[in-house]
Amino acid sequence: MGQETMVDVGFQLTGDWLQCSSKRRLEIVSPQGEVIGRVPAMTREEVDRALSKSRRVQKEWAKVPLYERGQILLTWADELIKRSDEIADMIMKEVGKKKSSAKDEVTRTADLIRYTVEEGKRIHGEMMKGDSFQGGSAGKVAIIEREALGLVLAISPFNYPVNLSAAKLAPALISGNAVVLKPATQGSISALLMADALMTAGLPKGVLHVVTGRGSEIGDWLVAHPAIDMISFTGGTKTGQDIARKAGMIPTVLELGGKDPAIVLEDADVEKAAGQIVSGAFSYSGQRCTAIKRVLVMEEVADQLVEQIQKKVEGLRVGLPEDDADVTPLIDSASADFVHSLILDALEKGAVSRTEYRKEGNLISPTVLDHVTEEMRVSWEEPFGPVLPIIRVTSEQEAVETANQSEYGLQASVFTKNMDKAFSIASQLDVGTVQLNGKTERGPDHFPFLGVKKSGAGVQGVRKSIESMTREKVTVLNL
Ligand code: NAP
Ligand code: G3H
Repeated sequence: MGQETMVDVGFQLTGDWLQCSSKRRLEIVSPQGEVIGRVPAMTREEVDRALSKSRRVQKEWAKVPLYERGQILLTWADELIKRSDEIADMIMKEVGKKKSSAKDEVTRTADLIRYTVEEGKRIHGEMMKGDSFQGGSAGKVAIIEREALGLVLAISPFNYPVNLSAAKLAPALISGNAVVLKPATQGSISALLMADALMTAGLPKGVLHVVTGRGSEIGDWLVAHPAIDMISFTGGTKTGQDIARKAGMIPTVLELGGKDPAIVLEDADVEKAAGQIVSGAFSYSGQRCTAIKRVLVMEEVADQLVEQIQKKVEGLRVGLPEDDADVTPLIDSASADFVHSLILDALEKGAVSRTEYRKEGNLISPTVLDHVTEEMRVSWEEPFGPVLPIIRVTSEQEAVETANQSEYGLQASVFTKNMDKAFSIASQLDVGTVQLNGKTERGPDHFPFLGVKKSGAGVQGVRKSIESMTREKVTVLNL
């Protein structure tokens, strides 16, 4: 896929770049409103064609020795690094991520792929003898292997178009699955570039298909498609819930939305906490599932914390991704309008803004709202934008109860110097991960990553992802 095809890329079918027979295209519009490319809006028939050969191809791929599968993935990682400028440039344009972070996304992806290859080599089966029970089982020996599930449907969100696609592809492929990737529409050119690097690395034709088109049009067709053996989805809670309903008995891993709290106790290192909170809340303009989306601070240190947060927010660069700004225009106008409505609702209900609130098109200035109360929507709804509500609490119990009242349960942070309290609070929080004295974040990528309640089902993280995409196969030897 050369530079000149950027404005009108094909779709990836059995290893060839093809154009859609229907000639239907989706325009990819940048967060600043610029049309930067077109991708095929694939039809259901084209999706069927893409998937029809997958089963046969997958069986062949699973027979390729693990070492050789690993070598292809390692070459893919090298290829991504070679092309990191080009790919990062597209991430920057397509989803409005500042260039340095876009470049980090590509580097992180190459590291993740390399680790996945190593981990894939360490997935072994086991053997069990049958003599633990009375009766005639003493002569039985079970040989337990792990085998690929078959065809994995990977659906990724816009905010990490390369990393969150590859985080599904790499574990699926190392363990012998074929993959159909449906990237977020906004982010699909970046995902196609990533897939092109994989084809260049020598992935056999047909092991990967990338299908583009609106999730609302082809999503249901894909999710309920009889060729699919497993779904790995990252995206919004509502979409994830719909997919879970339609998937029926197909195994799913769902990584969904969040409302991660940062709990700050009276003995916390306030300056450190403020630094972590600002970076956690505002990097990539808050468009991260793991962004800190509310602060629950003890009244005694609230003024001090707010002052520190305010100072650090003033140091953030607000502008365009090309200028390496920290806070850049949100992905689209619907998202910007939604965040705007949350801020207005809070201000109308008495929240105090500690920053000057501005909205120009999709660019929303980093907004710190103090004295937020539970009547305000921003206390509970996920903004996916640069707004940080501060809720003052008078006890640890109140902090824990307020944290747990959320319908989400992805991650939480606790800032305190008292480790006994930290562990006690961590044990009471209904979330997948608690960060002690650090911001909420997914990485490093080999840690298990999961959400509870409406934040997800199943676990990602390199080893966990491989496990979720393989199953045990038992052969019993009767001696
Ligand atoms: P989204 O709107 O749910 O979209 C996610 C993916 O699902 C996209 O590829 C989308 O395609 C596709 N899709 C939409 N409707 C579908 C359907 N009916 N069937 C199948 N696929 C469908 O989410 P987003 O706006 O990209 O991302 C933001 C959300 O994702 C936030 O809530 C965030 O918290 C969450 N997120 C969670 C994690 C995590 O690991 N927990 C990570 C990142 C993001 P189209 O783009 O074509 O609509
Ligand atoms: O948006 C959701 C991602 O899984 C968050 O990843 O914590 O590395 O930004 P991150």
